[in-house]
Amino acid sequence: MMLQFNIFKNLSIKLRLIIIIMAVSFVSVLLTAFTISVIGRYSIQGNLEQELAVSASIVGDRNTAALLFNDDKQAQANLSVFSVNQNIVQACLYNQMGTLFARYAGKRFENEKCPLDLSERSNVTDSRIELMMPIVKMGDKIGYIYIESTLEQIAAYIKKQILIACTVAATALLVSYLLAINMQKTISKPILSLADTARQVSIRKDFGIRAPLVGDKEKEFNNELVTLTSSFNDMLAEIGARDHQLKQKNTELERARDIAEGANRAKSQFLANISHELRTPLNAIIGFSSILMNQLFGSLGDQKYLEYSKDINESGTHLLDIINDILDLSKAEAGKLTLHYEEVHIGKAIGKCITILSERADKGKVSIITNIPKMLPLLVVDRLRFVQIMLNIISNAVKFTEEKGRVHISVATRTVDDEVTHFVVTVEDTGIGMAKDDIEKAFQSFGQIDSGLNRKYEGTGLGLPLTKKLMDLHYGDIQIESEMGKGTVVTLVFPALPPLGVEYEPPTERGA
Ligand SMILES: Nc1ncnc2c1ncn2[C@@H]1O[C@H](COP(=O)(O)OP(=O)(O)OP(=O)(O)O)[C@@H](O)[C@H]1O
Ligand SMILES: [Mg+2]
Repeated sequence: MMLQFNIFKNLSIKLRLIIIIMAVSFVSVLLTAFTISVIGRYSIQGNLEQELAVSASIVGDRNTAALLFNDDKQAQANLSVFSVNQNIVQACLYNQMGTLFARYAGKRFENEKCPLDLSERSNVTDSRIELMMPIVKMGDKIGYIYIESTLEQIAAYIKKQILIACTVAATALLVSYLLAINMQKTISKPILSLADTARQVSIRKDFGIRAPLVGDKEKEFNNELVTLTSSFNDMLAEIGARDHQLKQKNTELERARDIAEGANRAKSQFLANISHELRTPLNAIIGFSSILMNQLFGSLGDQKYLEYSKDINESGTHLLDIINDILDLSKAEAGKLTLHYEEVHIGKAIGKCITILSERADKGKVSIITNIPKMLPLLVVDRLRFVQIMLNIISNAVKFTEEKGRVHISVATRTVDDEVTHFVVTVEDTGIGMAKDDIEKAFQSFGQIDSGLNRKYEGTGLGLPLTKKLMDLHYGDIQIESEMGKGTVVTLVFPALPPLGVEYEPPTERGA
């Protein structure tokens, strides 16, 4: 049943309509034929019963004299009238005492027996109909008559009906097929042309195509197919208009993107140029102030000159750091920052960073504690960038930690099948911490968190965004967990090796 239904579902709309129309007319013809047959059968049966009753009463009347005068020959002759009816099985005549007096039996039914039960009745069984009636004269029962007939008439009628029903059903099938072929067109044609239009639109991506309107939208407003086609066309027009708008918007967006990209390139170029232009005089300022500070060509004389030259040197170095950060960030944003991978001893590299920052840590009375396993494999990273990352993170930890606070640096490894796949560096401090919502802001350029408390700390807010970019370039990951007033934990995950195919150098003599 399920399979048949699926087959039906896969048929074309045209065929489905033809089948539906034919099935409906076929079933209605069969139902009509069945109803007529049933009604006909019972009316034939009724007629038969009536006929039998009339015959019984006529034959009974005729036999009154024969019964009264005990004339069985006359009775026999009277009963023989039934011989004209082929369906009569037998007719039995009984006298007043209930003794069989005369009998007629149809040729085919000579072996049948007259019943002994004389109770008045009219019975219909599957194949026979029987009638037992008393014969009454002047109010006295003078005998009984029994007539039995076959129902062959009904069987013949049913046979004939089936034959007629089959002929009518076959004719109905043929006629309904011819009608269906023509009538289905009014439904299937607009639907098929809709489907065809939809196919054309999807193949040619042309929303200007329209489905042909079979009928008048205004006049045939109650014809759903006309409404469907015109709504479909309206929808195509709407999609076409939106598609056009979208294309226009896309062109505008592309133009805006090109302008933005151009501006970004110009910005990067400008930064690169300006940085270069600034770095040259800055290097001279730093160099000359260093010569002055160290009094290489003799004493400066006044202590004030010494302090000023130190200030010039420090400010110049600070400015150079900022310029370098800006340049790195713009290079990274423009995708122009490339890494030079080499094997690095992670313990030594971190040790170097701590040495650089120790003066600042001592000044702030912050102790730096390390927990770095001695026997670690070499990490393959861009050495300078790794140091830059670690300096940024450790300097933040030192900077944002109050006096007597601690910064804890630890290194661990992740392994797969005894092979070190990642290095995990954790920098934990007991400093001022950050609110959860501010952590994301800290990763944005110049995204210093203005809590009113931390602005006493110097900086430009470039360290973390640059660190994030450098970690991304290394295919690494940086996560910050922090709690206001309690401290911050920064976790850096470095892949132990660069991506496949990237070449790297052995460790340099500088040790890190
Ligand atoms: N360990 C930390 N504890 C508390 N706050 C921190 C910590 N690290 C970063 N922050 C917050 O995130 C902000 C951004 O950090 P980022 O390193 O980018 O900038 P900065 O240190 O202020 O300036 P720069 O690094 O450019 O000198 C900081 O200004 C600070 O508010
Ligand atoms: Mg910083």
